[in-house]
Amino acid sequence: MTRYGKLIGASLGPGDPELITRRAWTALQSGARWLYPVKKAEEASYALAIVARGGLAVPHDAEQLIFPMTRDAEILGRAWARAAAHTVDLLATGRDLVFLVEGDASTFSTFGHLARVVRELVPAVEVETIPGVSSFAAAAASTGITLAEEDETLAVIPAAYGVGVIDHLLDEFDTVVLLKVKPLVDEIIELLERRDLLATTCFVEKVGAPDERVVRDLASLRGEKANYLSLMLVQNPKRARGELRRGCRSRKEALVAAGA
Ligand SMILES: C[S@@+](CC[C@H](N)C(=O)[O-])C[C@H]1O[C@@H](n2cnc3c(N)ncnc32)[C@H](O)[C@@H]1O
Repeated sequence: MTRYGKLIGASLGPGDPELITRRAWTALQSGARWLYPVKKAEEASYALAIVARGGLAVPHDAEQLIFPMTRDAEILGRAWARAAAHTVDLLATGRDLVFLVEGDASTFSTFGHLARVVRELVPAVEVETIPGVSSFAAAAASTGITLAEEDETLAVIPAAYGVGVIDHLLDEFDTVVLLKVKPLVDEIIELLERRDLLATTCFVEKVGAPDERVVRDLASLRGEKANYLSLMLVQNPKRARGELRRGCRSRKEALVAAGA
């Protein structure tokens, strides 16, 4: 009977190797074979570069897996099937695999999907997810923004839902994190200007990497081609809040809030 290795998703944080957790660092040095994602064959891997900046040599047998950036379902389907089948072949040698993940492996990451498809092919494969620092947690720290405190609400969405949805969410959430903003920067700026939120929004590109960029003057980004690795943290300080349910706060806090 085939003894399969374990599939480990190692979150590496968004760019600064100091944000790689000890557990991920240990997994990288455990003798497990490295797999890292790229968009095209032989293209540089952002995840691999984080580890290299941390001072670890890339093992000679580290392998790339290609996940093309396209919405073409057929091309995507073929690439995913190839990546999953190859991962299963490698696991069938009995050696563990460590899949390098930029940011956090449970947050909009290729790893979740890869692990699911591999488990569909071979249910016996053990999967371990090593959590990590997400891009927006690092961006909040880098800009000095608090994502949420006390009763505040926080939403994290891909901007691709469009400005109509973002507009609606701004009525419901005190902070809205917009990921994958690249194609929509101008439209989002227009919305934020209309809602008078330009001054409380930050744009962050490649957080943690040597070429990290923070832009607070959002209007200056108009017409610019943003990098794929960029996000916006939108704070909405004037949002009207609803009532909180009784019992969700301590009695003392509730009395203070009620002015008693
Ligand atoms: C596929 S998601 C990956 C999210 C990642 N797993 C995480 O935990 O943040 C890609 C999007 O996350 C955001 N992102 C990821 N890494 C980033 C970075 N280093 N700097 C800024 N934004 C980043 C961008 O919005 C990008 O379009």
